[in-house]
Amino acid sequence: MNTKTSIQVLDWDTSFFGKKIGTYKNEIWNKKVCEALRGEMKKEAIECVYVKMRRENLSLQQSICGLGPIDSQVTYECDMKNWSSTGTPAEKFETSAQKSDLESLHALAKELSIASRFWIDEKFRSKAAEMYLIWIDKLVADPDASVLITRGDKGIISGFVTCRKKGKECHLDLIVVSGNHHGKGIGSQLMESFMNWTAENGIKKAVVVTQESNAPARRLYEKFGFKLKETTDIFHIWR
Ligand SMILES: CC(C)(COP(=O)(O)OP(=O)(O)OC[C@H]1O[C@@H](n2cnc3c(N)ncnc32)[C@H](O)[C@@H]1OP(=O)(O)O)[C@@H](O)C(=O)NCCC(=O)NCCS
Repeated sequence: MNTKTSIQVLDWDTSFFGKKIGTYKNEIWNKKVCEALRGEMKKEAIECVYVKMRRENLSLQQSICGLGPIDSQVTYECDMKNWSSTGTPAEKFETSAQKSDLESLHALAKELSIASRFWIDEKFRSKAAEMYLIWIDKLVADPDASVLITRGDKGIISGFVTCRKKGKECHLDLIVVSGNHHGKGIGSQLMESFMNWTAENGIKKAVVVTQESNAPARRLYEKFGFKLKETTDIFHIWR
């Protein structure tokens, strides 16, 4: 059996975390594959390798280097043909926003980082919040994306959703409602804004990825007609 491995080094992650990080795609895992992978990691001084495995393939594996997944993600898709725009106006976050608005946006992005695999993995945790700040700043500046917000008491931002054109799809990368405002319909309002933005931009398919264990988010997406497409388990293999 061919056990030759080839890790693809991830430049952005390597520079951001200050340690060499890579990714490795492989359908079949066994002891030999794992030994070859660890050998390559040692030779190339790679600290961590991300492995993503579709759930239906996971049961075929002996073991992924004896590790359990650090995260399990579900991908949902929505056919926009059934969506009729509600016309609910959404406020777009602008790059010229006031300092206080930017601070609220960043505080919400930090709340989101706590659910991520970079927070769950203690070796990445100290950088998880910063990663989400960079992510939201990039989306605010991206000409193919919009960050839509809701405001609560005294006009303070209570939640946001991001909409990003990717080819023929619209991706919802981030959605969050401030902790003390959960369960009041704000998430639904943001989803409505996301759906309207997608429809207004002539996009026929919406895509969102969340954690398998995130029941509130999953129910929210299902309520808006999203259907589960696939489940992916993610592993962090450390040297
Ligand atoms: C997901 C989230 C945005 C929902 O916002 P929200 O304002 O609480 O949502 P709403 O009040 O509009 O509720 C919308 C639906 O979500 C579901 N929901 C909300 N809270 C829930 C809970 N605790 N358990 C299960 N489902 C829940 C329900 O289906 C609800 O619809 P319904 O009230 O008609 O049954 C919010 O929980 C949140 O910010 N979570 C943390 C960030 C996050 O996980 N983001 C997603 C990953 S990027």
